[in-house]
Amino acid sequence: MEYNVIKNAKSIIQKSPYLVKDASNYKGKWANLFQNNNPIYLELGMGRGDFIINMAKTYPKINFIGLELNESQMVMATERLSNLKLPNLKLLNMDASNIDTVFAKEIDTIYLTFCDPWPKKHDERKRFTHPTYLKLYDKVFKKNKHIILKTDNKGFFAYSLEELSKYWYVFDRVSLDLHHNEIPIPNIMTDFEKKYQEENRPIYYVDASFKN
Ligand SMILES: C[S@@+](CC[C@H](N)C(=O)[O-])C[C@H]1O[C@@H](n2cnc3c(N)ncnc32)[C@H](O)[C@@H]1O
Repeated sequence: MEYNVIKNAKSIIQKSPYLVKDASNYKGKWANLFQNNNPIYLELGMGRGDFIINMAKTYPKINFIGLELNESQMVMATERLSNLKLPNLKLLNMDASNIDTVFAKEIDTIYLTFCDPWPKKHDERKRFTHPTYLKLYDKVFKKNKHIILKTDNKGFFAYSLEELSKYWYVFDRVSLDLHHNEIPIPNIMTDFEKKYQEENRPIYYVDASFKN
């Protein structure tokens, strides 16, 4: 997917107090950074950050980390945060494929929200539910594994269910149309999700876990 490039994006986001610059120093010590032992939830590919910011506002007893590779995308998140004081939120500007360099057995939940579906077979390894990623997540999950995935892409959703089940994840909740579920699932929308809702596209959802 291509995104607008914002000039000086790197220097803009570097000024945000929410950005953790020397993240590898906190490997295994994120509780110290947050100054509490509350659970830590991580969103991979947070984009412009609306979801993770609203999660942090709604659930102050949970620590949230929004990770994003694209600096221009992150500018909007840092701007949205400029007048907010959320001690339970941090941002990371890095590639998700390197999360084991900054976390060690300390993440409770990973959110995969509208991640790039990489539909071509030769790009399969880049999908956030490829076995390589599922193995990577094992290195950062505290004890039990917990992934919440939302997508508008049916093919990517089917692929993810298959890979997660091969990896013995259990599906606690599945929806093929999150916004029209008979029993509503508590949900905070992402930026992409709001757009898709306006277009009346179904949102696929799975809450998957593996308890050790
Ligand atoms: C389709 S957007 C979704 C953004 C947001 N989650 C939402 O739902 O509004 C996917 C985001 O994932 C980011 N991304 C893609 N590959 C990534 C990677 N390997 N590491 C970190 N972020 C990545 C992209 O830059 C983009 O911002």
